[in-house]
Order: sequence, then structure tokens, then C-alpha cells
Amino acid sequence: MATKLASKSEHLYKRARELIPGGVNSPVRYYSPYPLFVASAKGSRFRTVDGEEFLDYCMAYGALLDGHAPEEIVEAVQMALARGSLYGQPTEMEVELASLISSLVPSMEMVRLVNSGTEATMHSLRLARAFTGRQKILKFEGGYHGAHDSVLVRAGSGASSLGIPNSEGITKNVAEDTLVAKFNDEGMSRRIIEDHTHELAAVIVEPVMGNMGPVLPRPGFLETLRKITQENGVILIFDEVITGFRVALGGAQEYFGIRPDMTVLGKILGGGLPIGAFGGRREIMEKLAPLGGVYQAGTYSGNPVSVAASLATLQSLKRRARQ
Ligand SMILES: Cc1ncc(COP(=O)(O)O)c(C=O)c1O
Repeated sequence: MATKLASKSEHLYKRARELIPGGVNSPVRYYSPYPLFVASAKGSRFRTVDGEEFLDYCMAYGALLDGHAPEEIVEAVQMALARGSLYGQPTEMEVELASLISSLVPSMEMVRLVNSGTEATMHSLRLARAFTGRQKILKFEGGYHGAHDSVLVRAGSGASSLGIPNSEGITKNVAEDTLVAKFNDEGMSRRIIEDHTHELAAVIVEPVMGNMGPVLPRPGFLETLRKITQENGVILIFDEVITGFRVALGGAQEYFGIRPDMTVLGKILGGGLPIGAFGGRREIMEKLAPLGGVYQAGTYSGNPVSVAASLATLQSLKRRARQ
């Protein structure tokens, strides 16, 4: 009896799992019995190393708004690459990109570029802590804000708002500084914010919950969050890594008409290249080094290749939104 020949994906997976934990560089990419290994992609489709073609409904978890390898992005990246991929010095394109982001998302009066959504939420939370002089943050059950300690926290048992670690290796102390409320529960959010008013630095929220749904905010929920945070001197951070440039050109904040103090962007912003951004009120952003005492840095931050892809993406979205 003929035995079925193993696919190249299966072979690669066997090799990969000897060298890379779980055979993948991000856990969501693993599925049973083994992930498909991709050779190339264009538009709505990708081709595996075994030559099979698939319609791609995942689009790199929402990063590829225009599909795989759109011409405009490929050209922009090729041109940037030919001029040098990293200078360790500022470029004109970074100023253009900051200006474009600010014009599309006006609450982002100043912008810092980073390399991922995770970096962007991490630095925005540190900044909020420094600005308010407070330590705790509030997130919502089911919301995902990246893979750093403060946000890898889920709700504790019962009515407790105290967070518990969602991953091994996160200290109890860090987790305890993250409070967790139920999305769309105005009463619970109000109670936690008012009970912790002197120790709560920030509320971070996906304005439309993309990571457990999508779940839309109930009418009035985001407005209530805005009002209570303002009344209690708490920084409201919209994590628009998924909603940014998708729900509306100016993100969920444009769609719902709410101005957060800070905003986090990623995914679509890079048009398929790694980039993230955080920004907000000028007085908050000016606390960042070298102006202020909040340290934030990155060798690849604002690198010309990612910035070129991002500029091409946003310019294209802006052009099409006008049509
Ligand atoms: C809402 C949200 N914030 C932050 C992140 C983290 O972004 P990254 O994977 O680029 O670090 C994600 C990633 O899925 C996300 O969905």
C-alpha cells in the first residue's frame, strides 16, 4: 500500500520545531497538525511551499488592508531600500509621516514611531504613569494590547477587579497594578475608576473590541469612559491597532466622535512592514526623552523602509477616502 508522501510544509515544520519553540515565531501561527508554510503572496491569495494556492481571510491578523504586496507599497519599499535601510539619524519622511498621522488622527498632536503595537502600548502606559504620577492601569477583559507584562493580565475571581497574570513569568506585583473591568459595563468601570482615583494612571481600551469579537461599544459606553477619566485625571488611551484607519480613516475615535488623551497605532499603519506609533496631547508627549524624563528608544524606530511603506499606505487611503 502506498504511503502518503509528507508535504514540504510538514517537513519544514518538523525542522522548525527543533529550532524555534513550537516551530513558529508567534504562537497564534501554530495550528494542528502543522501550519502551512508560505512561499509567496499577492493580492487576496497566498501560495504554500507545496504550490497550493489559498484565499487569505486572515491578512496577517488585520495588518494588510490592501492585501498582499500592493504595487504602491512594493515600489515605495524598493526605492527606500536602495537609499539605505537604516541611518540612526532622522529623515524628512519621518516628519511627513508624523504630520500625516496627526492630520488624520487630530488627537495625536505629537507622535512617536516604534516597531510594533506592543512597543506602542508599553510606552504609552509608561508615559501615562509618569505624567500622572500614578501607578495602576485599567484594561478590559478580553482586550489584547500586546505581549508585555502590564497588559498580559486577566480578571481575578468574582467581583474583584485585581488582575492576575495571563502568562508565566509575570510578577504578581506587576499584575496587581493592572485592574480589569468588563467591556461595556459602565457601572463597573465607574466604580473602579472612582475607587482608585489617586492611583490610576490610565484606562486602555480597544474602542471596538477586536480581540474578542468584534464587540461594538454600547451607545454611551465610550462617552462615559471619556467623562469619568476626565473627571478623575486619568489618561484615556485608545488602542487603535486594529480599528485605526479601518473603522474610519481617523479610526474609531473619528467614527464615535471621542477624543482620547493618547492613541496607539500599528498593523495597518505599516502596510505590511513593522511599525507602530503612539501619540496624543502635546503636554503628555513632551515628557518623553530627550525633552522629558520618560525614557523610550529604539534602534529601528522610524527606519526609512517601514516609514516609506507607512507613508505610501496612508497617502493611498487618504486619496481613496476623498473619492
Ligand atoms: C488591539 C491590539 N493592540 C496591540 C497589539 C500588539 O501589536 P503587535 O502584535 O504589533 O505587537 C495587537 C496585536 O494583535 C492588537 O490587536
